[in-house]
Formats: sequence, C-alpha cells, structure tokens
Amino acid sequence: MTWRDYWNQDTPIYVNARHKAVHYDVIARQLADALPPGDTAAGPAVLDFGCGEALSADVVAKRCQVLHLCDGAELVRSRLQQKFGLLGNVVVMSPEQLGEIPAGSLDLIVVNSVLQYLSRADLDNLLATWKRLLKPGGQLLIADVIPHDVGPLTDVLALLKLGAKNGFFIASFFGLARTFFSDYRKTRAALGLSHYSEAEMLALLTSAGYTARRRQPNLGHNQARMAFVGVVKAL
Ligand SMILES: C[S@@+](CC[C@H](N)C(=O)[O-])C[C@H]1O[C@@H](n2cnc3c(N)ncnc32)[C@H](O)[C@@H]1O
Repeated sequence: MTWRDYWNQDTPIYVNARHKAVHYDVIARQLADALPPGDTAAGPAVLDFGCGEALSADVVAKRCQVLHLCDGAELVRSRLQQKFGLLGNVVVMSPEQLGEIPAGSLDLIVVNSVLQYLSRADLDNLLATWKRLLKPGGQLLIADVIPHDVGPLTDVLALLKLGAKNGFFIASFFGLARTFFSDYRKTRAALGLSHYSEAEMLALLTSAGYTARRRQPNLGHNQARMAFVGVVKAL
C-alpha cells in the first residue's frame, strides 16, 4: 500500500459533508486571492497538484485562463471530471500526464497538503518537473507542510476550532473517533508522513533552483503548518 493507493478510496479525513465543503471553500477562496495576474486578460494558467476533490474549484477557475486539476487517485479524478468536466477551462489529469502541459506555460502551481505523502525522491523529481512547467517568474506555492515538532494533537485542536466556527463541532468528535479507529491511522503508522523544518524547505527549494521564502499565513485552517513560495528565476 502507498499513500497514492490510500487516497483512491473514500477516507475518514472529513468528519462529514459540511466539513469537506467548508474545507474546500476556504482553500478555493484563499487560492483565488493568491492568483497572480497572468499575461492575458483571461488570467493566469494554474496547476493544482494533488488537488483532491477540490469541491469549489469553480471559484478558482472563474479567474483563470486554464486550471489543471491533477491528482494521483483515479477515484478523485473521476469525481473531478464529473463535477468540472463541462467547464471549458478546467483540465483534469493524472501526475503521469503532466508532460502534456507545455513547458514554461504556467503562472502558478499550488501544492496544498500533499508534501507529507511524498517520498524525498518523489519530491525532488516533482520540484524539477514543476520548475520546467512554470514561466520565468512563475510561482510554486507549497502549503500545509508539517514541521517536525507538530503531531496529531495540533491537527485535532485545529479541526475542533474549525468545527466550532462552522457548525460541525459535535460531528468533529465522532469524526476524530472514527479516524482513530480507521485505516488512516494504521496507514500513517505504517507509511509515516514526511515532515520538514522551515530551513529544510527553504534549502530544498533553493537547491532545486527556486528563489524561496516562507509564506504567512498557511493555506487552510491550521496555522501550525507552513507555506512556502518558490519563484522561478527570470532568464
Ligand atoms: C490531504 S489531500 C489534499 C487535497 C487538496 N490539495 C486540499 O488542499 O484539500 C492529499 C491529496 O494528494 C493526493 N496525492 C497523494 N500522493 C500523490 C502523488 N504522489 N501524486 C499526486 N497526488 C497525490 C491524494 O490523492 C489526495 O487527493
């Protein structure tokens, strides 16, 4: 079992439909606000890598020339295709299809809450691929990176706070209990998650050829996790 296999099923990560909808709504609004202008009036060309079900991707797509939604799980891609396939500027793709995006054509690549599921070797390869796809001056936004000293308890508290604010506080308790007894916990124990310090992330991005900086705030609701921007140097 790999993390990619794990995500190819319904998971207990979201405590209920409201939690899932609130999560994707928050991410989409933050992303829409973070979009660079792009070179044309139609807006930027964007790739959301490891996008998940991206339930509010239409909010982002409205402001983009093209929005590539890329996810490693076939089940996720089929749901994305069903929901957004009719939008003319949304392209659903697998990581193996990234080569279909013209080199040097993207203004922004977003990678939110994905690094923890990637091996170091996979991350190194992806940093090179993403750099090839970005325009000079294009941005790589990597968010929700888990620092070494942040464990599951911080995630629990952040979830309860989000639940309290959005009307699913009680459901959060049941959801957390479900997660505790679920495959997620067992898979997490078996496969582990990748953690990085701020210095490690900045060094990784720099040695992959990006101009790197920490971005605050993080995307999403958990400010114990970190976000970074890597800019491809102009020629
Ligand atoms: C925690 S979800 C994050 C989804 C979304 N980015 C968000 O912000 O909610 C992780 C996603 O990464 C995807 N993923 C995991 N490993 C991947 C890989 N190697 N290549 C592409 N996608 C991957 C999973 O299928 C899953 O949809």
